[in-house]
Amino acid sequence: MAQSLVYGIDVGTTKIVALAGRVDTRRGWVEVLSMGEAPSNGLKRGVVVDRGAAGESVAAAIEACGVLGGPVSVGIAGSHISSFNTEVTVLNRSRNLTISNRFLKKLEQEARQLDLHEDEQVVHVVPRGYVLDGSEGVKNPVGLAARKITMRAHVVSGAVSSIQNLLHVVEDCGVRVSRVVLEPLASAEACLLDSDRESGVVLVDVGGGTTDIATFLKGALTHTAVIPIGGENFSADLAYGLKIPQHKSEKMKRRYGTVLSGAVDPVAAVKLDDRYYNASFMSQILEYRAREVFELVRESLEKAHVHNLLPGGAILTGGGSLLDGMTDLAEDILGMRARTATPRRVRGEIKPVQKPQYATSVGLLYFSARHGEPGPKVKGAGATSFGSIVEAVRSWFRGG
Ligand SMILES: Nc1ncnc2c1ncn2[C@@H]1O[C@H](COP(=O)(O)OP(=O)(O)OP(=O)(O)O)[C@@H](O)[C@H]1O
Ligand SMILES: [Mg+2]
Repeated sequence: MAQSLVYGIDVGTTKIVALAGRVDTRRGWVEVLSMGEAPSNGLKRGVVVDRGAAGESVAAAIEACGVLGGPVSVGIAGSHISSFNTEVTVLNRSRNLTISNRFLKKLEQEARQLDLHEDEQVVHVVPRGYVLDGSEGVKNPVGLAARKITMRAHVVSGAVSSIQNLLHVVEDCGVRVSRVVLEPLASAEACLLDSDRESGVVLVDVGGGTTDIATFLKGALTHTAVIPIGGENFSADLAYGLKIPQHKSEKMKRRYGTVLSGAVDPVAAVKLDDRYYNASFMSQILEYRAREVFELVRESLEKAHVHNLLPGGAILTGGGSLLDGMTDLAEDILGMRARTATPRRVRGEIKPVQKPQYATSVGLLYFSARHGEPGPKVKGAGATSFGSIVEAVRSWFRGG
């Protein structure tokens, strides 16, 4: 049995996470072999604003992970990202009319040629389904025969400069980037089951700088969006409202915060560093911001006409989803069921990754394994000990 060694770096607004792991795509599990985390500097709302500071943060995470180089998948977000649905049609000129994987690659290449603004480039072409000689609803056309093939796809594009800045920051650390992955797509890989994608769900990753969404229906990606508001805004509002520094408001938020102000006793007080604060006032500030986030999510879903196609409801993840009451408020504003999700099917000894704030980084490993160009195969990995796999990762990163 062979499994893929894969590597990911989530360059988040509040933290950088570097992971090395192995994924069994057939059975659907990931084992995190090594993990490094560092506080993030030099990023704002998901994009690099200071190359030096961001580079140092990424280097610290890589060092903590203990791996020194190699092709990694890197997460991308930010309000420069846009996405749309499109279709391309190509005539099949092969003699037996059979559709090959190579032919599908050609369709994807075709979709990448779409007319974009010169400052933009395609990040993903995600096929949503195929039409073969007028027959709709084909998910996997390989091996089938057809003359005229239409691919329906969701295309994600981003600003060339923001993508370059992200690549520079990681490559400054001597690491080769094999691909950039839209963060909510990575998070979805970690948190959603195939049955979720089939029934129709929206994944909402509430991070520190951005809230990223991805919707799925009948197994296919239907819509993605990046909303430039995250947990840091909640803390900043609280700092402003309570007239305290942000590192204190961050503590207050995590310890006492809720977005359900109606459930808080109007005269209750909470204590931090020998001072008392009105709990109801605090929750009103947080609720106001949370309402804005979910209203923007709803608007985005409505604009994309997918709002009524999500019977599986909303699945919240990211560190911001840990704030008390977020799922209740999401249900209220989005008008659908909501729950939080953590990375699923994680094996091995590194358990901290089973938290919502690691959805993107774990998802990058799943994404790399599922979408090709993996690292070297570990032959007979099932019988190999944990330690020797870590050594294999390290020596491979060293090029040995
Ligand atoms: N227990 C908690 N309660 C409330 N909020 C929390 C909690 N733990 C973390 N957060 C918030 O989660 C946010 C960070 O989430 P996450 O780690 O997913 O972001 P990120 O990946 O660094 O950022 P982004 O994805 O936006 O670039 C912070 O704003 C933090 O305040
Ligand atoms: Mg994130």
